[in-house]
Amino acid sequence: MPRTALPNLALIATGGTIAGAAASATDVVGYTAGTLGADTLLAAVPQLRELANIRAEQLFNLDSKDMGPGHWLALAQRVQALAQDDGIDGIVITHGTDTLEETAAFLALTVVTTKPVVLTAAMRPATALSADGPMNLYEAVSVAAHGESVGRGVLVSFAGEIHAALGLCKSHIQRLAAFVNDTTGPIGRSHPVRYFAPVPSGKAARFAIPPEAAPLPRVDILYVGAGTSPDLLDIVTSAGARGIVLTLAGNGSMPATWEDAVRRTTAAGIPVIRASRAGAGGVGPKAQDSDWGTHAAGGLPASQARVALMLALTSPNSTTLDRLFGSY
Ligand code: SIN
Repeated sequence: MPRTALPNLALIATGGTIAGAAASATDVVGYTAGTLGADTLLAAVPQLRELANIRAEQLFNLDSKDMGPGHWLALAQRVQALAQDDGIDGIVITHGTDTLEETAAFLALTVVTTKPVVLTAAMRPATALSADGPMNLYEAVSVAAHGESVGRGVLVSFAGEIHAALGLCKSHIQRLAAFVNDTTGPIGRSHPVRYFAPVPSGKAARFAIPPEAAPLPRVDILYVGAGTSPDLLDIVTSAGARGIVLTLAGNGSMPATWEDAVRRTTAAGIPVIRASRAGAGGVGPKAQDSDWGTHAAGGLPASQARVALMLALTSPNSTTLDRLFGSY
């Protein structure tokens, strides 16, 4: 890597639509995600050379719907190792949009560094007319190369906005600005880079990266529609769930028909988190939580509450669940 005044960034490519290819430039649906390699993504944006010296590596090349805890672990270990490398000033990760919020949450909850760690993705495959990936990559590199990104925790740069990782969720299936963080709103703009708030203090990682050999505990998400049977709780606990996130209506509102089954579940030592299917707003604690044994998900969407609970279950010294979820 040449020694210049430019920052040295590592790019970790993991797949997604940003690396997707279709047979036709007008096809933005029938493409294969995770097809092109990191070098092809970089070659599409020669302007990156003006921003940073970039060392690229391909960790996976997947459609992010096929990612899971093993991939999060491997990525977190790689990001942590790169963050400890004195020759690296920041890290950019290309990813699929579909489960980006889970990966971003896992990194935010585990990786310890003040160096910028910035995820990005795309809604249109690289072969599409007006593909959004090249500009998203350019902006993510700009964010990672920017001095004011230091100490801000894991960031997501997408469609011109900078988001905090925790509280983020993919909220649209087609729109190019597909992500919303309803807890914080966008914390900055990616082009040119500008933050709306000072660097937060006390942003420490909350959990150690679990050893790869030990699988993360199974935590299931149950979507509770009107009239859904609480039998689902018994089904997933019998199948081995060690924790459950309920995607409930409104403010994580528990149907009366679920109360007994939830009490039984939590009394058996299986934590139950109340998240919301409403898509925006934070789930607040309720007086009945102590009776049900439940915890409110706060500003985390169900997908991220699940990641946080998986980590909490691996960590004997973790903060209590109410403190954990209450902090988002
Ligand atoms: C994926 O998540 O890998 C496919 C969808 C996307 O990146 O938009």
